[in-house]
Formats: sequence, structure tokens, C-alpha cells
Amino acid sequence: MTATATPAIQLRGLEKAYGELQVLRGVDLDVAPGSIVALLGSNGAGKTTVIRILATLLTADAGTATVNGFDLATQPAQVRESFSLTGQFAAVDEILSGRENLVLVAKLRHLAAPGAIADDLLARFSLTDAGGRKVSTYSGGMRRRLDIAMSLIGDPPVIFLDEPTTGLDPQARLEVWDTVKELAGQGTTVLLTTQYLDEAEQLADRIAILHEGRIIADGTLAELKRLLPPAEVEYVEKQPTLEQIFLSIVGADRKESR
Ligand SMILES: Nc1ncnc2c1ncn2[C@@H]1O[C@H](COP(=O)(O)OP(=O)(O)OP(=O)(O)O)[C@@H](O)[C@H]1O
Ligand SMILES: [Mg+2]
Repeated sequence: MTATATPAIQLRGLEKAYGELQVLRGVDLDVAPGSIVALLGSNGAGKTTVIRILATLLTADAGTATVNGFDLATQPAQVRESFSLTGQFAAVDEILSGRENLVLVAKLRHLAAPGAIADDLLARFSLTDAGGRKVSTYSGGMRRRLDIAMSLIGDPPVIFLDEPTTGLDPQARLEVWDTVKELAGQGTTVLLTTQYLDEAEQLADRIAILHEGRIIADGTLAELKRLLPPAEVEYVEKQPTLEQIFLSIVGADRKESR
């Protein structure tokens, strides 16, 4: 599909152990430029570990990875200039207004016209009306949008979102999904982690399932669905849900490793 484009993110044989605990056992993944890939896995599968390695916060024990064409091991400075990372908990300052938070980050990055950058991002994230209010008065969804907006200052080509909607209510999740879709629509490459199957289903162009240290399935939702035959229910063909696919793959894998 995007076989001709150089991947925006590429992982090959990535391994990582914490002491005795071997978390990553050879992770391979390609993320095409401008696409959204969801890294799906249970608690403790190693999703955050993958993100922290790509963000140069952690060193892999083996394997290679590139971000925006730059090699993690030999070009870490260029890698750091290529991405922004939004962690699970919002990094916004409660006492400042939304606009002040954005201006502050733009100033810290030594960008010209921080006020204009802030106003542009407030508009893009539907926060213009709330821009002058203290963040302490924002809803969870608004904070999350502001957090993502802050991470976009300086236009990084790649964005890592570690569980972008954990703890948000359904409406706020929808808002964040829209934001992420819009980002990818404008050419930003998004690698996000999630434990929510519906999030992966709604948001991602491709879904990679991380289980027992490896990517055990990787494809579009339609491709993953083809892994399971449709179930026949009272003459109505019922497509398997991502949840059924996930449990089927993970369950099968569990049995094998016993
Ligand atoms: N610094 C560390 N030292 C020791 N063990 C760690 C460390 N960081 C993570 N682990 C362990 O490695 C495994 C993978 O952790 P990781 O945070 O990458 O998982 P995750 O897929 O992000 O999980 P979650 O869905 O809960 O966020 C877990 O068993 C975790 O306890
Ligand atoms: Mg995690």
C-alpha cells in the first residue's frame, strides 16, 4: 500500500529486558508517513517501553530503529528533533491559561511569534474560547487537547501518544480522536498505544498487536478481520470484532507458549 514510501518509523528486532524480565523479544514494525498506527497490547505488554525507546529515553538491548529516517543509536539528536511525545498524564500547567501554556512552550523552543503560534493552535484544537481561562477549569478532554497542541509546537513530523484517552469520558475520547485524525490528515505520523480495542478500530490505519514481546499481528482492520472466518449467525453473516480477533490471536499464542 505504502510500500514505496520510506517508513517514518521503523523497528527491527528490538529487544529489551528489565533485569530478568524480558519485555521485548524482537519487535518489528513499520509506520508509513502520515499514517496512524495503534500499538495494541495488554497491561505490561511493553507498549510504553517501545515508546520510551523510540523517544531516546531508554536504550534497547538489541535491534535497530529509525525515526524520520534517523537512526536511534547513531543520530539521537536528529531523532529528538523529529518527534514529540505526549505521555499518559497531561503536562499542562494548571495555574496558567491554555494560551499562556502554549506561549510558554513556544518561547522555550525559541520560536518567533509565540502569540500567533498559540492562537493558531487554540483554533486548530477548538480551544479559542477557553484560551484565556485557567487550565484548572478545563475538562479532561480539553486538557488532553491542550497537551497534544503543546506537543505540536515546532511542527514535529512524528508524534508518539502513549494512551492518549485513558481516563477520559466517551465524549472527550471522541474529541481526542478527531484531533488525532486531523493531525494525520495534515501529514503528521502518529504512533499511539492503547489498551482500547475500539480506539484502535476507530482511529488507526494499521493496528499492531504486541504480545509476549513481539508483534504477533499487524495490518489494517480489514486484514486482521480476514484472520478469522466470519461467524454464521441465523443466516446473517457477522464479521468478527477486533476484540474477537485480539482474544483469538492472544489466546492461541498463550496456548502455544505453555
Ligand atoms: N523501569 C522498569 N524496571 C523494571 N520493570 C519495568 C520497568 N518499566 C517497565 N517494567 C515492566 O516491564 C513490563 C512492560 O512495561 P510497559 O510499561 O512497557 O508496559 P505497557 O504495555 O505500557 O503497560 P500498560 O498498559 O500498563 O501501560 C511490565 O511488566 C513492567 O512492570
Ligand atoms: Mg504503558
